[in-house]
Amino acid sequence: MADNNNCGCWTFLKRGVCNSSSSTTHSANTIPRTSLVYDAATETRCLNASNRELFPPSEARLSSDNLDPPTSTKTKSPRQLLQFTFQELKSATGNFRPDSILGEGGFGYVFKGWIEENGAPAKPGSRITVAVKSLKLDGLQGHREWVVEVAFLGQLHHPNLVKLIGYCIEEDHRLLVYEFMTRGSLENHLFRRTIPLPWSNRIKITLGAAKGLAFLHGGPEPVIYRDFKTSNILLDSEYNAKLSDFGLAKAGPQGDKTHVSTRVVGTYGYAAPEYVMTGHLTSKSDVYSFGVVLLEILTGRRSMDKKRPSGEQNLVTWARPYLADKRKLYQLVDPRPSYNG
Ligand SMILES: Nc1ncnc2c1ncn2[C@@H]1O[C@H](COP(=O)(O)OP(=O)(O)OP(=O)(O)O)[C@@H](O)[C@H]1O
Ligand SMILES: [Mg+2]
Repeated sequence: MADNNNCGCWTFLKRGVCNSSSSTTHSANTIPRTSLVYDAATETRCLNASNRELFPPSEARLSSDNLDPPTSTKTKSPRQLLQFTFQELKSATGNFRPDSILGEGGFGYVFKGWIEENGAPAKPGSRITVAVKSLKLDGLQGHREWVVEVAFLGQLHHPNLVKLIGYCIEEDHRLLVYEFMTRGSLENHLFRRTIPLPWSNRIKITLGAAKGLAFLHGGPEPVIYRDFKTSNILLDSEYNAKLSDFGLAKAGPQGDKTHVSTRVVGTYGYAAPEYVMTGHLTSKSDVYSFGVVLLEILTGRRSMDKKRPSGEQNLVTWARPYLADKRKLYQLVDPRPSYNG
């Protein structure tokens, strides 16, 4: 896959135009926001919040309340996402074959598919492998999340965020097309496999996910992710971690505001207690979720596990006494033997 390291755009996306600078042509069908593009040479500065492009204040802010979807079937979105027809994605996934299902989440099924460089469907097993997420037809909430995902992920570019390649909006169909992440989710590796994840991989994944989160939080217009959890951390062939699922993302507080007031959404076991109680959202809410995931990585235990004895079902509650005592800390660590490869 061709990947332009300078601008972070995929130059092969011929149905769009690689343009990392601000798009000034906005229509009702486009997402009016400048691109946020990662540049490998400036990662440190990005993480220090000084190198992300600013948005003109007049431009619409992204939030789950900004629900103007890119509805045109002809207009290119400013992030040069590919716009697929439903028929194209049907062909790309072999008619949404059950044996090409990669997983299922609250949004719907995720299928493996294949496309040409220009986005046309390709023969199974050839050209570019993609993951196609298909929204269950369950009303407005799914559509909202679909719009928010396209809006944010279409414009945020970083090696630790999954790449959104394109989308399909046609009648009731809402689909998203991502780069294929060979090793699936961290959740699968931590909790669904018999062989424990090697510690070196756990560390690499933790650092990668932290960099993704720091990128979101670190700019002049911070983004609060709101869904940091092991199933949303995807892994490529070399265990590089990439954050996925931006349907709950929210623009952070502006100016002298300390928080965003919002209805409480997220996943039980990961959401910060103060956010759940007050609805006041800050980037610290993501940091809390990061802490929960870090505990899952260290302990090999799920954040919520109803199969464990009471007192051990909530990971944070169970772990807290160990965290407070240096001499007990090591007792938290996943006891399963694992290779350090
Ligand atoms: N880009 C991708 N490449 C490879 N596999 C993927 C990709 N995106 C998703 N998957 C697989 O599909 C599964 C379902 O993903 P999805 O994001 O729909 O749900 P989830 O994260 O498991 O749950 P939730 O809906 O609560 O976020 C993932 O766990 C992962 O195994
Ligand atoms: Mg997910």
